[in-house]
Amino acid sequence: MNNVLVTGGAGYIGSHVVKQLLEQTNTKVTILDNLSTGSKITLDTLKNIREYEFIKLDLKEFDEVELVLKNNSFDTIIHFAASIVVPESVENPLKYYMNNTVNTTNLINQAVKYNVSKFIFSSTAATYGEPINIPENGIDEDYSQNPINPYGMSKLMSERVLIDTAKVNESFKYVIFRYFNVAGADINYENKELAPRIGQSFPNATHLIKIASECACKKREQMAIFGDDYDTSDGTGVRDYIHIDDLADAHIKAIDYLKHNDSDIFNAGYGKGFSVKEVIECMKDSTKKDFKVSIEPRRLGDPATLISNNSKIKSKMGWTPKYDDLSLICQSAYAWENR
Ligand code: UD1
Repeated sequence: MNNVLVTGGAGYIGSHVVKQLLEQTNTKVTILDNLSTGSKITLDTLKNIREYEFIKLDLKEFDEVELVLKNNSFDTIIHFAASIVVPESVENPLKYYMNNTVNTTNLINQAVKYNVSKFIFSSTAATYGEPINIPENGIDEDYSQNPINPYGMSKLMSERVLIDTAKVNESFKYVIFRYFNVAGADINYENKELAPRIGQSFPNATHLIKIASECACKKREQMAIFGDDYDTSDGTGVRDYIHIDDLADAHIKAIDYLKHNDSDIFNAGYGKGFSVKEVIECMKDSTKKDFKVSIEPRRLGDPATLISNNSKIKSKMGWTPKYDDLSLICQSAYAWENR
């Protein structure tokens, strides 16, 4: 039986991975979360699926973190806990370098010390920065990494710590996932209606689909498009949106993958892009709700286009997306928001 520590397991992505671990495997699960953005309600919902251990702790508490690793024989760490808001990272870089890079470095150090053999790390497409000459098939894992914001850099530095550590510790392996734009909520149907049990609960959301879903259910009156003068087909930013349950599935696969394969890095995206305008239209169409949209200046740290090449994760890990459908992503985000 696997014994897995999930840091940030009360958060948006972490909780969907925990959900799948509890539902689909007999893995022993321990969640470590400081609940700064993670949700207590989500933790209770997950308890309805099956028992797991919860430890409320901030990763900056190095001594306590060491005790957790010393007292449990984890074979795998899936590390989500991080700060993730790009504009905030531009304004407060040290928060990102401390919370993301420094705390991840300590966690890796403890993982090696206490014989954790597998480390699965949430990295980001933001490590690619502002891609120049995007290849026709999207950005692959060998594309140059030049982050244009401290969030991306804090993740890139963590990647490097992981890679260098694994080079000199034979029994320590990693999978790094570079997420593109994660969205949507738990695919769960009741009476043929989407009824997500968990979703994105982060207050003061900054993510496009979350904000559009808040507008669709009238929690917000209007929203802004940040920049319509980018070098894209309609002038608004283009991103590769991946459904949260497909992303979570990749993490479940990664645990087994590392039993038989070497450390590796995988993009997680669908390999196609939608503009901000297209996403907003899709939210309106798929929910049959209208709302006001204004054009505002560009947001700090935003590249024009980010689209993955996902050939590697499909061929090497055998990952097959199930929810590659922007309207389903929008509908599930809306159903969660409107619950
Ligand atoms: C960023 C990171 C991504 C990371 C995520 C975590 C980059 C390039 N990407 O995603 O890797 O996983 O944060 O938080 O740094 N937009 C609007 N109006 C809004 C909100 C967003 O127009 O109200 C636009 C943005 O300008 C952007 C697109 O929508 O063009 C997507 O933005 P968002 O959902 O915030 O994600 P990213 O910033 O792309």
